Amino acid sequence: MDFPTDLIQLLIKATRVSVLTGAGVSQESGLRTFRDSQSGLWAQYKPQDLASPAAFARDPKLIWDWYAWRREAIKGVRPNAGHYALAEMEKKISEFTLITQNVDGLHRMAGSNNLLELHGNILRVRCSVCGTFTEDWGDDSESVPLCGKCNGLLRPDVVWFGESLPRAELEAAVTASRACQVFFSIGTSGVVQPAAALAHAARNNGAVVVEINAEPTPLTPKVDFAFHGKSGEILPELVKAIWG
Ligand code: OAD
Repeated sequence: MDFPTDLIQLLIKATRVSVLTGAGVSQESGLRTFRDSQSGLWAQYKPQDLASPAAFARDPKLIWDWYAWRREAIKGVRPNAGHYALAEMEKKISEFTLITQNVDGLHRMAGSNNLLELHGNILRVRCSVCGTFTEDWGDDSESVPLCGKCNGLLRPDVVWFGESLPRAELEAAVTASRACQVFFSIGTSGVVQPAAALAHAARNNGAVVVEINAEPTPLTPKVDFAFHGKSGEILPELVKAIWG
């Protein structure tokens, strides 16, 4: 892919870059994106109808099982070339912040360190009542495991529809978006707030905004550069074009 020279020049000199990623960056690792239809047993459900406190209150076992199934799917997958390219970018740029909506942990597995997980992490589990984290919950498939401290139902440490984002992560994401010289929006449909607003915060503060997505999104008309294709192909090419 040919990248515009002015973008390459800008990135060679840039010292502050922020990146927002969504489910699209994990698609080439074999994970379905959030809005893709699901497979097997779960095909009859919309993710939007399962990822909510109301759904958990109505049928905790159903929701626990859906996350257990997704956790299993994640266990077998590895980061792809796009995740590794972003980890490489972090090494080259002095203030590099990676903001992700993904809960799959693949960015960290690929070596990204300055990472803000806005929607939590599916591999972590906490009590729905007292909030205590646990790494040992003995899944017996009969019922939802209970908190060892207060006997409350355990749940994944992810943000559900209608819940607030973790405050410190969101504040850090807004700060990094406002302060950066270049902002990337990669593999996200850009429809879920407040993450989707970060690109606008960057743009309003003078950043050049770049989108990488398999297809156009509502953000596309507002960006300075849009590349349509797979992030696992475009990102390594971009890193190569900048740093050789
Ligand atoms: P979506 O499933 O909404 O969007 C995935 C985006 O990735 C789409 O725009 C695709 O075009 C694009 N895409 C697919 N494959 C790609 C590839 N190989 N390379 C580049 N782009 C590709 O997922 P998100 O935008 O991440 O939150 O969804 C945001 C949030 O919505 C999720 O984190 C989830 C949901 O609410 C929670 O569960 C809290």
